[in-house]
Amino acid sequence: MIRAYFNERADIWDETVAEKDTAKLERMATRLNLKPGFKILDVGTGTGVFLPFIFGKIGQDGQVIAIDIADEMLLKAKVKGLPGNIDYLCADVMEIPVVGEVFDAVVCYSSFPHFQDKPKAFAEMLRVIKPGGSLMICHTSSRAHINEIHSQIPDVRHDILPAGDDMQLLLSAAGFSDIAIEDDSDSYLARASKPQMV
Ligand SMILES: C[S@@+](CC[C@H](N)C(=O)[O-])C[C@H]1O[C@@H](n2cnc3c(N)ncnc32)[C@H](O)[C@@H]1O
Repeated sequence: MIRAYFNERADIWDETVAEKDTAKLERMATRLNLKPGFKILDVGTGTGVFLPFIFGKIGQDGQVIAIDIADEMLLKAKVKGLPGNIDYLCADVMEIPVVGEVFDAVVCYSSFPHFQDKPKAFAEMLRVIKPGGSLMICHTSSRAHINEIHSQIPDVRHDILPAGDDMQLLLSAAGFSDIAIEDDSDSYLARASKPQMV
């Protein structure tokens, strides 16, 4: 269902829904502490809105695997011909088609509320992060704003960003450490690390 929902919106996504405030996107990318040369998994890439801001931090020596469950959204990203070493994969975060602990960081920009089985999504993301690597769940709106918007749309009304305590519990139950959640009037960022020894 969620795949169909986003596929139906792929044509109008960039004009109507995507974040257009490039200063906000840049500020969020800066907060992620991504380093030159990092290998990143971008989950729920959609039309690729956040990719240029990720590459602004990891540079041309960096690499992104960009996954999305909605092929039409991903196609919109692909045809942009964005610069950088990017592999686009149509895949579900609940079954990431990657072997081993290979990513310095996993980024979910504006996508996490839509993951239908959040514990399973966390387990899969943890599996592919290098020991000591990080997970970033980020939005350029507050948690309250995102949940309010989603509550008004029947197809995504259950797709919420959990409250701080619930998010902490979900992340720690999955095996993440160093959990920090920042939720302010126009942004949300949950950071967590994969322990060096799991
Ligand atoms: C709100 S859109 C955001 C897209 C893009 N990050 C942006 O900011 O414009 C959420 C994206 O997450 C994708 N998505 C939802 N559930 C997913 C899943 N289980 N696995 C991978 N991608 C998923 C959707 O297809 C959609 O493209």
